[in-house]
Amino acid sequence: MTRQLTRISRVAVLASGLIVLVLTAGLLGGCPPGGSPGTPGPPVFNNTTDPLNAGASYVGSRACAACHADIAVRTRLHAHSHALVPIDDAAPTYPTQAARAGVPDPPDGKQWTDVSYIIGGYTLGALFVDTQGYVMTDGVDGVHTQWNLAFAPTGTEAGFAVYRPDQQTPLPYGYRCFRCHTTGPAPQDRDRPGSQEGRPGIGGTWAEAGVQCEACHGPGSNHLPRPAARDLFVDPTPATCARCHTEGTDPDVIAAIDGYIHPNTQYAELRASGGHANFACNICHDSHASAVYDRERGIRNPCAVCHTDANMAAHGGVVFVRGDYRETMTCESCHMPFAGLSNAAAGPAVVGGTGRMGDVRSHIFRIATRDADYAAMFSADGRSVSKDAQGRAAVTVDFVCLRCHTDETAAPNSAFFLSLDSAWQIATGLHRLPQ
Ligand code: HEC
Ligand code: HEC
Ligand code: HEC
Ligand code: HEC
Ligand code: HEC
Ligand code: HEC
Ligand code: HEC
Ligand code: HEC
Repeated sequence: MTRQLTRISRVAVLASGLIVLVLTAGLLGGCPPGGSPGTPGPPVFNNTTDPLNAGASYVGSRACAACHADIAVRTRLHAHSHALVPIDDAAPTYPTQAARAGVPDPPDGKQWTDVSYIIGGYTLGALFVDTQGYVMTDGVDGVHTQWNLAFAPTGTEAGFAVYRPDQQTPLPYGYRCFRCHTTGPAPQDRDRPGSQEGRPGIGGTWAEAGVQCEACHGPGSNHLPRPAARDLFVDPTPATCARCHTEGTDPDVIAAIDGYIHPNTQYAELRASGGHANFACNICHDSHASAVYDRERGIRNPCAVCHTDANMAAHGGVVFVRGDYRETMTCESCHMPFAGLSNAAAGPAVVGGTGRMGDVRSHIFRIATRDADYAAMFSADGRSVSKDAQGRAAVTVDFVCLRCHTDETAAPNSAFFLSLDSAWQIATGLHRLPQ
């Protein structure tokens, strides 16, 4: 017990020192030409309260790139900048480093001239907005309208999949849908009856497609003429990210659907993570760099920086192999399991009869070492993740261990079979096994 407490306080102190350190490093790295040579120490942001920058207007990310070229290069690789992609009569293009990204064809029977925007298409999947501003659905178009990118961990191959067969009338692309995928979104109301580019299906307008600079820093027209004032909005707290990485209105609810965590609930998950509950996202993340395609920069503090004495829980140097798929075990392999579902879950041929695996990593970090399968992870109505009396959640071992340690219904792989029962029993104290 004493040992445990000493370790915890040491880690906590180390962690708070790091926050200052990483922010300083971020500032020095991003100092634009013409910037005043600041004194060493954490950056001082003069405006952390007014996201509208005193009534400024949007100027577009291209204008920012003129002075902040290094940051612009980084954000170009981030999924944020591809969250909504305008289509110009041809397949969209993405940075070549983004190996999985790409949508080669529109849905069967459609031409690129029938498509105005693609939602995503960068990390896991894509949906199509037609020229009238409606999201294409199987119900309306009679063909498959969701494009899945190849995703090796789940064995998903690139191809079309079913999306909303139940939706048989044109599905408007509304504010509640585009508000997190655009910069400067505005809903339609009596004062602003407009639709983006006059497309009737789009219920409102935006200033720029995708999550670009001004989505987090607010409109920039007042900053350009006098950047030295350093009064453009910067919010280094998790609130900056929570706005879009929260599903629903209650940040204490980790939303769930059909036995998986909702894909954009990272903020609620983190709050239920126990030890990391009060962390800002940017303690681990670089706000400007992709965690998916630019991982070295995107994750600026890997686990081992703080957890200096943690071992690999009997999996040091282990490489999981299934067909062509190889995964060198990391802390994330167990502590950030794929319990969230965005586009395609792994089937029994990949995870067996009892294993569970979606396609989005969880930020709960805690593992449930008790006799329970995924059903017990969720509330009775299945719409949220259950928590204990301290407000903490934990991911069950079918998501954590059994996606690798599969039963005989799965394709052969390098991990031996573990039943749910043996998995949770072994999981208890796994870090204390001989390494
Ligand atoms: C004409 C060059 C120029 C342009 C264009 C420009 N910036 Fe800046 N920006 C600067 C300078 C110079 C600083 C001050 C840096 C320093 O002092 O270290 C700065 C600082 C900032 C900061 C820190 C703010 C603060 O209060 O400390 C942010 C955020 C920022 N810029 C974002 C943007 C965004 C977003 C755009 C596009 C809307 C943009 N910049 C366009 C030159 C520019
Ligand atoms: C509350 C903010 C929010 C709203 C509202 C929202 N999204 Fe998203 N969306 C996200 C986030 C965050 C992700 C990334 C999730 C992840 O990777 O964990 C995402 C991912 C996606 C992706 C996958 C993109 C890719 O490159 O793989 C698609 C497609 C998508 N959303 C479509 C929609 C549609 C359609 C709607 C409206 C019904 C919608 N979103 C509403 C935040 C939102
Ligand atoms: C997803 C939100 C988000 C987007 C998009 C974003 N920023 Fe930032 N930015 C932040 C946050 C949060 C900080 C505070 C420090 C940190 O987290 O690193 C910041 C800090 C900055 C700073 C000051 C510190 C530094 O790193 O130099 C500048 C300058 C800046 N951003 C410019 C930009 C520009 C230019 C773009 C677009 C190319 C952009 N940002 C896009 C969230 C964002
Ligand atoms: C305006 C809405 C919005 C805000 C604000 C926002 N995000 Fe996102 N984020 C998204 C959407 C939408 C996606 C999915 C885009 C896609 O996959 O096409 C996403 C994806 C991501 C991803 C996974 C993709 C990648 O390339 O790494 C990370 C990590 C991420 N966001 C972190 C953050 C952090 C950290 C902040 C706060 C500094 C933040 N986000 C703020 C909407 C937002
Ligand atoms: C303790 C560290 C840590 C904190 C805090 C953290 N993240 Fe992450 N996050 C990671 C790591 C590590 C990854 C990359 C995992 C991988 O793919 O290897 C990641 C990945 C992601 C992804 C991509 C997930 C996927 O599988 O598509 C999103 C989105 C994201 N983070 C958003 C956030 C947001 C928003 C916050 C704040 C509410 C946050 N993160 C806080 C460590 C953290
Ligand atoms: C900035 C420092 C920092 C980073 C980076 C970090 N952690 Fe932590 N973590 C902490 C602190 C502080 C605690 C709380 C004290 C403790 O339990 O040791 C904690 C607690 C935990 C816990 C126990 C949660 C609970 O309350 O039951 C787990 C599990 C964990 N971290 C895993 C990880 C993993 C995996 C990563 C990498 C993806 C990571 N951490 C990254 C600092 C960090
Ligand atoms: C093979 C799966 C696995 C891997 C890999 C793994 N862990 Fe764990 N970890 C667990 C399990 C299961 C528990 C909960 C059972 C326990 O208390 O030992 C746990 C507990 C923890 C805890 C909280 C309990 C404690 O010891 O204080 C922390 C912190 C932690 N792990 C950090 C890490 C870090 C950091 C890494 C990477 C160096 C890592 N783990 C790698 C499975 C794993
Ligand atoms: C990413 C895949 C993966 C995950 C996740 C995973 N394992 Fe493993 N595990 C392996 C592989 C591969 C081996 C090596 C098998 C061999 O001996 O060849 C292994 C080995 C083991 C061993 C034997 C260690 C030794 O002493 O040699 C145990 C026990 C074990 N796993 C239990 C677990 C438990 C419990 C969990 C969940 C907390 C878990 N594993 C999560 C892939 C995984």
